Amino acid sequence: MDAATQLPTVGMIGAGQLARMTHQAAIALGQSLKVLAGDPAESAAVVAPATVLGDYRELEDLRAFAKGCTVVTFDHEHVPQSVLRTLVDEGVDVQPRPEALLYAQDKQAMRTRLAEFGLPQPRWAPVDSISDVEAFGLPCVLKAATGGYDGKGVWMIDTLADAQAVLASGIRLIAEERMALQRELAVQIARSPRGETAVYPVVETVQSGGICTEVIAPAPHLAPETADEAKRIAETIATGLGVCGMLAVELFQTSKGLFINELAMRAHNSGHWTIEGAETSQFEQHLRAVLDYPLGSTATVAPYTVMANVLGGRAGGPRLDERLQHLLADDPGAHVHLYGKAVRPGRKIGHVTVRGDDPELLRRRALRAAERLQEGE
Ligand SMILES: Nc1ncnc2c1ncn2[C@@H]1O[C@H](COP(=O)(O)OP(=O)(O)O)[C@@H](O)[C@H]1O
Ligand SMILES: [Mg+2]
Repeated sequence: MDAATQLPTVGMIGAGQLARMTHQAAIALGQSLKVLAGDPAESAAVVAPATVLGDYRELEDLRAFAKGCTVVTFDHEHVPQSVLRTLVDEGVDVQPRPEALLYAQDKQAMRTRLAEFGLPQPRWAPVDSISDVEAFGLPCVLKAATGGYDGKGVWMIDTLADAQAVLASGIRLIAEERMALQRELAVQIARSPRGETAVYPVVETVQSGGICTEVIAPAPHLAPETADEAKRIAETIATGLGVCGMLAVELFQTSKGLFINELAMRAHNSGHWTIEGAETSQFEQHLRAVLDYPLGSTATVAPYTVMANVLGGRAGGPRLDERLQHLLADDPGAHVHLYGKAVRPGRKIGHVTVRGDDPELLRRRALRAAERLQEGE
């Protein structure tokens, strides 16, 4: 707790854009997020005064960081289980609990557990040799069981030679049936320790090169029964795993129905639209949930909200500041979020959100805005 304000201090392990946007939400609640950063130049480290430098894999660093925190939560899922369990044993309030977080850290553990719940998933198997992959069947998708993000750790496999190259890395892998996707969806739900849940509308996500580049909220033309099914899946997982905070369930929509892709137990790219598009942003909702506050309304404030990610573009051309001014002149209704990161080609450096009635027009507007920032033209 902060002695002066008598309000809680939330500690977030990781200082990327998710922590940066959570810090903004914390400010509105009278708080100031405390963040653990690996580097003082990270997105949240450059804006949060209570930044502690340290290594998220080191118990000693996390122990020191957790001192004075009301609750400790995450902007990524890479903190080792052993470290988290020790912190919990020592009395730190870690949310979500490591026993739940495991299923966002380890895709093999997740697939095994979700199968026990009888939830729909692609056919899958653990693999650690060419004969395993051969027995599983090609084409398939190989995935690193742990440590992947933004498509790093996902390989589309057409031949045994492709598989051999991935197996040679020696990392723990699962194979998944390569599904024919009609599109990708995501559903977010918040759950608090007292068991309250609040689910957001189901959204469509568009990925390119393994990175989520566009989100349309709600997913256009989604049959109400499919939306209900997605929400039921999210509820089952949140409650079944005892999740606390925000949970994102990535889904595949196929001709055979919905299949679960993966889970994230934190704010998620598919929920950035909630800052302007919902009564309560995912960032505020995550804070409310980990603090066991009552949850906020997940109602939308516009018929449609579309978010487009801004990636670092090619070098050269107008400076980012100039690009930003052109965009603001072009589209005064666009909501721009820049993450304060050094620009590198392909790196997520921000996002733009627009609201309105027509999802196709909004998509074009959001992509145009992102392109303005990305390419400067
Ligand atoms: N079994 C699958 N079949 C078809 N496409 C897949 C499959 N698994 C993943 N993908 C594609 O790869 C993307 C990244 O996979 P994902 O498991 O979500 O990895 P990451 O942890 O990097 O987000 C997905 O959003 C989807 O586009
Ligand atoms: Mg994913």
